[in-house]
Amino acid sequence: MKIDPAELGAEKAYRLLTGIVVPRPIAWVTSLSPGGAVNLAPFSAFTFVSPKPPMLAISVGRKAGVYKDTARNILAREEYVIHIADSPLLSAVHDSSAEHPPEVSEVDMLGLETIASDHIAVPRLAAAPIAMECRFRQCLEFGETRSRLIVGEVVAFHIRDGLLVNDKIETESLDPIARIAGPRYARLGEIVTLKPVFQTSK
Ligand SMILES: Cc1cc2nc3c(=O)[nH]c(=O)nc-3n(C[C@H](O)[C@H](O)[C@H](O)COP(=O)(O)O)c2cc1C
Repeated sequence: MKIDPAELGAEKAYRLLTGIVVPRPIAWVTSLSPGGAVNLAPFSAFTFVSPKPPMLAISVGRKAGVYKDTARNILAREEYVIHIADSPLLSAVHDSSAEHPPEVSEVDMLGLETIASDHIAVPRLAAAPIAMECRFRQCLEFGETRSRLIVGEVVAFHIRDGLLVNDKIETESLDPIARIAGPRYARLGEIVTLKPVFQTSK
């Protein structure tokens, strides 16, 4: 089967891409509204774009032509926290994607505890195994939908005790969740370890 992207509307292309680019990690983002409410929402268009300084990117779309609260808050205040959720937090992650007016805090609605961040005014979630305090660095808009790729620099990593062993995250202990298409999620399956690939010198 072949599909010509020119014949796909934005909605169908979104459904196709979110089925193809799987599984996706989830950035669970706190940001502050203009009035100071702690906004929380998940974003699975998420990756890192630089190790030094560590920089992360999320892609935030628009709803009915209006940018989501997270994008507006980050561009206005230039600070936010990206969390990685584990499987006990799956329902909270999902429920935090419900749309609310900008001054309604999803953190309060879900009864989640927060902790003050070290370097920024946006608080982090106590329950998340990993929280990364971020400062906004760059925003690029793409395509007809003008999706915003928001890049931020991590200014502090908070990692639950015991998760980092010999400079590596213990992935099984982290027990991260991933998004498939629509309201479907995945956990880690079997982890396969192969021998390192040795590069031949020329
Ligand atoms: C697991 C999950 C991942 C999501 N990923 C994205 C994403 O990458 N980009 C996006 O624009 N919306 C994404 N959404 C939808 C937003 O979370 C949703 O529109 C939310 O209401 C935005 O909240 P805000 O207006 O408070 O920023 C995702 C939803 C879920 C449940």
